[in-house]
Amino acid sequence: MRTIKILLICFLALIYSCKKKNNSTTGLITTKAMVVSAREEASKIGTDILKQGGNAFDAMVATQFALAVAHPSAGNISGGGFMVYRKENGDIGSIDFREKAPLSAHKDMYLDSTGNVIPGMSTLGATAVGVPGSVAGAIEVHKKFGTLPLSKILAPVIALAEKGVVVTEKQEKKIAPYLQDFIKVNGEYSKFSIPYKAGDTIKYKALANTLKSISKHGRDGFYKGDVAKKLSSFIQKNGGFVTEEDLEKYNVKWRQPVIFKYKELKIISMGAPSSGGITMQQIFKMIEPHNIKEFGHNSTKSIQLFTEASRRAYADRNYFLGDPDFVSIPLDVLLSNDYLENRMKDFSFDKATKSSTVSHGEVNIISESNETTHYSIIDKDGNAVSVTTTLNGNYGSKLFCDELGFFLNNEMDDFSAKPGIPNMFGLIGADANSIAPEKRMLSSMTPTIVEKDNKLWMVVGTPGGSTIITAVAQTILNTYEYSLNMQEAVNAPRFHHQWLPDAVIFEPNGFSKALKEELKAKEYIINEERTPIIGKVDAILVLPDGRLEAGADKRGDDTAVGY
Ligand code: DON
Repeated sequence: MRTIKILLICFLALIYSCKKKNNSTTGLITTKAMVVSAREEASKIGTDILKQGGNAFDAMVATQFALAVAHPSAGNISGGGFMVYRKENGDIGSIDFREKAPLSAHKDMYLDSTGNVIPGMSTLGATAVGVPGSVAGAIEVHKKFGTLPLSKILAPVIALAEKGVVVTEKQEKKIAPYLQDFIKVNGEYSKFSIPYKAGDTIKYKALANTLKSISKHGRDGFYKGDVAKKLSSFIQKNGGFVTEEDLEKYNVKWRQPVIFKYKELKIISMGAPSSGGITMQQIFKMIEPHNIKEFGHNSTKSIQLFTEASRRAYADRNYFLGDPDFVSIPLDVLLSNDYLENRMKDFSFDKATKSSTVSHGEVNIISESNETTHYSIIDKDGNAVSVTTTLNGNYGSKLFCDELGFFLNNEMDDFSAKPGIPNMFGLIGADANSIAPEKRMLSSMTPTIVEKDNKLWMVVGTPGGSTIITAVAQTILNTYEYSLNMQEAVNAPRFHHQWLPDAVIFEPNGFSKALKEELKAKEYIINEERTPIIGKVDAILVLPDGRLEAGADKRGDDTAVGY
């Protein structure tokens, strides 16, 4: 009897631990379709559109606008972004709806008379605002690939804005530190000039009206007419530069994505003006000759290899990359095997390379010349979209237009205001990313789709400023090299290095003291003070039997919904 009792207890304990393990390590699994985004409300609206017969592109439009309501720190209609897609027939492509510098912008616009960067001018308030691209992006995607009427797609988003969105615990923590900035930029009587607590419902009546204008008039409902007039005069009244002409002239671009092989994988990611795909390709190609799997997940050797590849790739990023419509990027050299092999020639597992000894690579050029959000979607037919969109900082420039109901971006800070001076992500820029009228600022956003054996395998991306590229690359490696499932790969602690500053950032609590000591002994500088969250990855993995597994990042309120 006693043995039976013990066996029963063991059996129940086993069931409990399996259940617990499943709860904590496996993402939502569905058979047909899925949306993973920063807020449940947005994932749900996107999935409902899929259930009503819409495809992944219709769901992209719904999710993009729903995030502007449910996740106003980053979801946006006044920011910009990038989408990489893969259709069920294998066609791939990408769209660039990144913001642009206004027509009146110029190289030295953020410098004082002595040539120094004016603090805050490219980050806080109207002077930081670039010409928004998100509405044009979503409408263009709908025009090219959408199947449902725009009004049907926007109806639930408008309803959500009118009903309101409940503030979560995480949101309360995130918004509280900005209250003084909101008051400073918008005065005392603006919608966000009061503290919000978890459980409060915020209604967005003005935003609902703006969305109605877009629903009725499409792109023109934002870039022309009443909304455009109000928006440009609001920005200018507050000292900014965006005019009605800027809004009217804004254009999106379909671009060839960056495509490369890493062992059996085909990785499809965003090209310039995002550095995401190019820098990630350089990192992957520099680590490919080594057996990183054998080194072990987050082991000293794998961290060293990844860090050294990142050091060299970011040095190139910061020097060579910019808007390809304005600068010529020597991609054929930067991405060639010989060049990358040569870049890693001085790498050794014995000792860190000093960033001061690494510059951008030698390339013979013929000289003629702090918030984002990502969502991943797969529909029932296998169409996939990977979208990263941003206001740049948390709540962008903090400038909130009460009349129209949304925050304005501070994307101008992604330009290099002065060569050699770091922006808010500590990224040091060069001439390739200097400011010019109608130019797009260099980005790190890395919306990515991965194929394995010529079939759709993963949709992945994240916010995180300069840490985006390393977070996406580590998530792919976690799954492919270390066989973690999708949720485990997202949960795994991440680290980051970007050439300058010459330090490796580790996520708090994720790495042992012994490992950090070992790296310090090899002369790695470990940043233990500034240890921000390194991305919030939202991804979908196609399992061998065709089902979909979500990786929704619990560092935020991110949630997967599907069926
Ligand atoms: O485009 C970029 O690289 C930046 N504007 C992204 C900003 C960002 O990810 C902030 N989020 N945490």
